[in-house]
Amino acid sequence: MAKLIVSDVDVKDKKVLVRVDFNVPIKDGVIGDDNRIVAALPTINYIIDNGGKAILLSHLGRIKSDADKKDLSLKPIADRLSELLKKPVTFVPENEGKEVEDAINNMQDGDVVVLENTRFQDIDNDFGKRESKNDPKLGEYWASLGDVYVNDAFGTAHRSHASNVGIAEAMKKAGKPAAAGFLMEKEIKFLGDAVANPVHPFVTILGGAKVSDKIDVITNLIPKSDHILIGGGMAYTFLAAQGHEIGKSLFEPDKVDLAKELLEKADGKIVLPVDNLAATEFSNDAARKVVGDDIPENMMGLDIGPKTVEKFKDILKDAKTVVWNGPMGAFEMPNFAEGTLEVGKALADLTDATTIIGGGDSTAAAKQLGIAPKITHISTGGGASLEYLEGKELPGIACISDK
Ligand code: 3PG
Repeated sequence: MAKLIVSDVDVKDKKVLVRVDFNVPIKDGVIGDDNRIVAALPTINYIIDNGGKAILLSHLGRIKSDADKKDLSLKPIADRLSELLKKPVTFVPENEGKEVEDAINNMQDGDVVVLENTRFQDIDNDFGKRESKNDPKLGEYWASLGDVYVNDAFGTAHRSHASNVGIAEAMKKAGKPAAAGFLMEKEIKFLGDAVANPVHPFVTILGGAKVSDKIDVITNLIPKSDHILIGGGMAYTFLAAQGHEIGKSLFEPDKVDLAKELLEKADGKIVLPVDNLAATEFSNDAARKVVGDDIPENMMGLDIGPKTVEKFKDILKDAKTVVWNGPMGAFEMPNFAEGTLEVGKALADLTDATTIIGGGDSTAAAKQLGIAPKITHISTGGGASLEYLEGKELPGIACISDK
């Protein structure tokens, strides 16, 4: 069933509560990457351009004590948003009570208000973690502040918290709409629908350190994919399962049987590195050597090798749908970044395919290469995109009204 979208709802003169995911890297008040703020602009602009009042809620970090509050205020984010929107944004240093209610009552059509970090509600109260444990009263309170609710926080969709799920449930109970924002719509379209019903050939590329992080993704995508290309640290547990020597490479001994099972289930669809860039130690300056699919005893595999890059490229050239999550090697060290960067380039070269990237390192690689505009969709979700690729129903999506 299709979800209600913000553009299906009348927002004129309405108080529109928007749950965004502004959980961005921030240090000493300086935002490291404003990608998630930029990604929310289409929804916010739509609301204010159509005469609505946008009231924004987001979490930032995790709040365990009062001391955490000082570094996790949304104030610097509200300031950045104001720069991006090129208009004033009112920041309210609370998210409950008179100051909030007054600020909302004073809003004119087209105004934007940002409330303080929703996770400030996780301390100093009788309920305990009111936000993270979804205190229904908190969801009801927030819902009472608006006429329309828009959930644009895909990055938080795997959480069932008061500010995304609680508020949506309370809105629907009160007969008010709970719609998806444009970012949420896009994430559902690409990470959800395009992967659930892919145009074939469908190639999945998975990397990263551990098999254990990706088991459910592999299991979900084996029947849907034509090929699953595996690189990164997790490849070595698979190579070990095939009886290869892996030297000092990353290895999860308790996952070898599972790797064997997955290889069997995949029936040839899983493609492992045929050569590797190995090093004597985990250091950018370590001595490097291209080796085959057996790693010498005193070395560790830190990137896929040139033959593997060619093999992966050859498979990718015919793909019509590609989803990529996780680096092909120790991408954070420039001497072991090439495999990841080559895979990124191969994706950018596909002109007739839907290309989807999820996960921090693959996204960073796309940015480093300047290929982001050539990728169909780069997900703003970390944990959420992984759980979505696992085929799970995410509470932050399930709570949105159906059309
Ligand atoms: C994320 O960055 O993955 C989301 O914003 C969720 O944050 P959390 O893991 O702190 O709930």
